[in-house]
Amino acid sequence: MLLTIGDLVEEILIRLVSPPRRGADTLVRSARLRGGSGANVAALVAEGGGDVRFVGQTGDDTIGHVLADDLRQRGVSTRVTHLGGTGVTITTSGEGGRSRLVDRGASSRVTLIDDDVLDDVSHVFLPASVFAADPLASAMDSMLAITRERRLAITLGAPGTADLEEIGGPAFRELVSTLEPDAVVLNRAEHLALDCAPREPLAGARLTVVTAGPRPTLVLREGSGESVPVAPVPSIRDRTGVGDGFIAGFVMSRMTGADGVAASHAGHRVAARVLGQLGPTTGRRS
Ligand SMILES: Nc1ncnc2c1ncn2[C@@H]1O[C@H](COP(=O)(O)OP(=O)(O)OP(=O)(O)O)[C@@H](O)[C@H]1O
Ligand SMILES: [Mg+2]
Repeated sequence: MLLTIGDLVEEILIRLVSPPRRGADTLVRSARLRGGSGANVAALVAEGGGDVRFVGQTGDDTIGHVLADDLRQRGVSTRVTHLGGTGVTITTSGEGGRSRLVDRGASSRVTLIDDDVLDDVSHVFLPASVFAADPLASAMDSMLAITRERRLAITLGAPGTADLEEIGGPAFRELVSTLEPDAVVLNRAEHLALDCAPREPLAGARLTVVTAGPRPTLVLREGSGESVPVAPVPSIRDRTGVGDGFIAGFVMSRMTGADGVAASHAGHRVAARVLGQLGPTTGRRS
C-alpha cells in the first residue's frame, strides 16, 4: 500500500471580483475545501481505487475532526492525531493572480510517528513541507531510517516558495541525494527555484519529473530526458489540487511497475479530472 504523510488543513478559496479595499468590506465568492498535499494525494489515490494510509495531525476542533472523518469515508486508512488548532490555507484568485496565505497549524506540530505506520507499505509519498519545520521534520527521522532499511520507494514533492525558504535549496538537494527517491515531482518554477538548469535532473533521484501546466511534462534522468505531452482539457472549473492529482496518478502507476513516461500519462489523466471539479477531487468515490 501507499503511505502519505503531511498536512491536513482547511482550504478556503476566495475569488476576488474587484481589488480588496483596505478599511472596508469587499464582496467575494468563496468555497471551503480540504488542503494539504499529503492528504490530497491520499484522497485522490483512494478515489482511484488504491490502497492508501495517511498520517498527519489536525487541531482538536470541529473542522479538524470533520476533515479526518471525510478522508476516512473516502476510503483512506487514516492515522490522524488531534492537538490544538487546525491549520488553514487561504487562496485568493482573480485580481492580480493567485496568492496563498498559509497557517499549517497542528499539521507541523507532530512529535511522534509510530514505526508501525509502515506495516504493509511499499511506497511512500512525502511532500517537502514535512521537512520544513520541527517538530514534524525531526519526527520523520525514525520512519525514514526504516524506509531506507526496507528499501521502500519514495516519491518526493517539491518545496513551494514558503517551504523552500524554510528548508533552503542546497539542503533540499542534499535531502534528495540522501533519500535516493524513486521520483521527485516539481513544477517548472520549483525546478528553477532549486537553481536547476532547464533539463537538469536532481542528483540522487531515479526520476526528476517537471510538470508545466498545459505544456509537456519532462521526465529527466541522468543523461536522458523525455517530453510527455498533456492533452488539452476543454472546460477547466478550478485548478485546486491539480498538482496533487498528477502525483496521485503518477505514483499509482509507478506502483504497478510503469515507466516514467507511462506514469506521467497516468498523472495527466487524474490531473485532467481534477481540473473539471471544484477542489482536489476527481468526483469519483471508490
Ligand atoms: N491548463 C491546463 N490544461 C491541461 N492540463 C493541465 C493544466 N494545468 C495543469 N494541468 C495538468 O496538471 C499537471 C500539473 O500541473 P502544474 O504543472 O500546473 O502543477 P502545479 O503547479 O504543481 O499545481 P499545484 O498548484 O496544484 O501545486 C500538468 O502536468 C497537467 O497534467
Ligand atoms: Mg504543485
